[in-house]
Amino acid sequence: MKKVMILGSTGSVGTKALDVAEHLGYEITAISANTNIKLLEKQIEKSHPALVACTDDTAARELKFGLNNKTEFFTGASGLQDMIREADFDICINAIVGMAGTVPSIEVIKRGKTLALANKECIVTAGEILFDLAEETGSEIISVDSEHSAIFQCLQDKIPNKPSRIILTASGGPFFGKTAKELENVTAKKALRHPNWSMGAKITIDSATLMNKGLEIMEAVRLFGVPEGKTEVIIHRESIIHSMVEFEDFSILAQLSVPDMKIPIQYALTYPKRYPSSSKKLDLTKIGKLSFFRPDEKTFKSMRLCRDALKEGGTAPTILNAANEVAVEMFLKGKIGFLKIADIVEEALNKTVTLFNPTIEDIIQTDNDIRQKLLI
Ligand SMILES: NC(=O)c1ccc[n+]([C@@H]2O[C@H](COP(=O)([O-])OP(=O)(O)OC[C@H]3O[C@@H](n4cnc5c(N)ncnc54)[C@H](OP(=O)(O)O)[C@@H]3O)[C@@H](O)[C@H]2O)c1
Repeated sequence: MKKVMILGSTGSVGTKALDVAEHLGYEITAISANTNIKLLEKQIEKSHPALVACTDDTAARELKFGLNNKTEFFTGASGLQDMIREADFDICINAIVGMAGTVPSIEVIKRGKTLALANKECIVTAGEILFDLAEETGSEIISVDSEHSAIFQCLQDKIPNKPSRIILTASGGPFFGKTAKELENVTAKKALRHPNWSMGAKITIDSATLMNKGLEIMEAVRLFGVPEGKTEVIIHRESIIHSMVEFEDFSILAQLSVPDMKIPIQYALTYPKRYPSSSKKLDLTKIGKLSFFRPDEKTFKSMRLCRDALKEGGTAPTILNAANEVAVEMFLKGKIGFLKIADIVEEALNKTVTLFNPTIEDIIQTDNDIRQKLLI
């Protein structure tokens, strides 16, 4: 029985991670949330974690009243770091959304424990720092992202062969096939209607702009050490093939399942073993056909911006990520149009000087600077 810590336990991945851990009979030793106190209280009652962190100070004050005295309680972003330093766990699922997940990932790696990462933004912004630190501490990093879990599973050969191409699949989101003109006035409500996956608001908008796929290219390059030029994205509307790996002999391995995050979450928790899942079985005869298309990178320019930021290196991915987080928030609040999201990111990249070989402090400072500039 493993001891599991779940960061971002109130989110879309976090709640599924709790279900999977319960299904496996694993012990939940620590959880964290930001604002969703009602759900956090229910999770404390059900899973009895010894440690709980709430990063939003106002929400934390409300929570304190409802807590039993068996739970140790931590407040604020620094409280979350303290909790990670104190917690007793074998594996941590980091399901926090955005750059806020970066420092917690570093704290987990410092402990030398296994980090199951849903939070892709920390790999995008501080990937090199994370992997260098993991090498020092012996911490293992396993991606929970369905595409990267698929690639990881395809690479489990006894004699490791280097992939010659990584093929990331993308559903294409709710606006597949739409022209720029048709996208001008789309609302947040429409953009939040993902055809295949039920996810948090930020990643759902990232899927609609294809920024999510761009971030995943960066994630794949860092996780699997493949050059950016050997990554390819294809639109696969059914979200059944979660990604593929091609080898030198032109054999392609793929991982298939129903689109359900419980499957990659469970694989990360039980790796290298497999156990029965509480998810649904894939029936290919019911699906009938699988389709594949080239992405429209002219209308959806986010993927090109991600490739450019990756090639530039240094703080460029942090600039891109921070601008995107702010722009998505503005779009969700109805302050900007859908196409403006990528424009804001492009402008931030063009107008900001990249810092090379950044420390984690440089990365945090760059992130703060971009947010402040864009929010003025
Ligand atoms: N959803 C998916 O299917 C999926 C698939 C692959 C990868 N991912 C990645 O997984 C991560 C989480 O995605 P999600 O869809 O689960 O997001 P989500 O539903 O929005 O949940 C985000 C979680 O992070 C917490 N959080 C928000 N801001 C925080 C902050 N400043 N400090 C600490 N915690 C904070 C939230 O707490 P409160 O709710 O209490 O405010 C919540 O628990 C993202 O990086 C996403 O790209 C998601």
